[in-house]
Amino acid sequence: MKIFFISLFPEMFAPVLETSMLFKAKEKGLVEFEYISLRDFGLGPRKQVDDTPYGGGDGMLLKPEPLVSAIEQAKEKAKNPHVILMTPRGERYSQHKAKKLAACNNDLIFVCARYEGYDERVVEYVDEQISIGDYVLTGGELPAMVIADSVIRLIPGVLGGETSAEIESFSDGETLEYPQYTRPEEFRDKKVPKVLLSGNHGQIAKWRKENSEKSKN
Ligand code: ADE
Repeated sequence: MKIFFISLFPEMFAPVLETSMLFKAKEKGLVEFEYISLRDFGLGPRKQVDDTPYGGGDGMLLKPEPLVSAIEQAKEKAKNPHVILMTPRGERYSQHKAKKLAACNNDLIFVCARYEGYDERVVEYVDEQISIGDYVLTGGELPAMVIADSVIRLIPGVLGGETSAEIESFSDGETLEYPQYTRPEEFRDKKVPKVLLSGNHGQIAKWRKENSEKSKN
């Protein structure tokens, strides 16, 4: 899977996406990243990317021409492209959606807006709009990285522990992970539940099931 990020701040991505498991996924050739600078598609000698809103109002909007040119360039480079616009007005993201994106066999193109938003005519050039929650961030970069992380870790071979993505939180869309413990057996008067030390796999499985919280959504 190749993932493209279109942004005015392309330098934001590598420090997050090219660390730890995601870096290893890239090294193994399971995922590839390309960061596209929206500024490169800006208009005129000042590479303008934003302008004031028609009808008045605060702030600046991203102009349609640079955004659409960047999307078109990414689409040309991608295999089976799927374009996602990050916006708090989009459909709410979920683990169910992460699984769909991980299984879809598409290259993903994330369009990360900034300022007060974007010219609405851009929407015609994207396949869907996604929000990571009912709050407003300063840009779509963090949401795009949240989605990329949640999708990449579901690609077979990315996580070290064979089935850990399968068994853990939300994987069936309903249960949250059970509490876990490691050494020491006692930490500041708090002991690890006895059953986990028992070696009785049946009892351990039962305890874990009983101690998995049900998801609220
Ligand atoms: N851009 C700003 N806030 C956002 C959010 N909550 N989800 C997706 N994109 C955003």
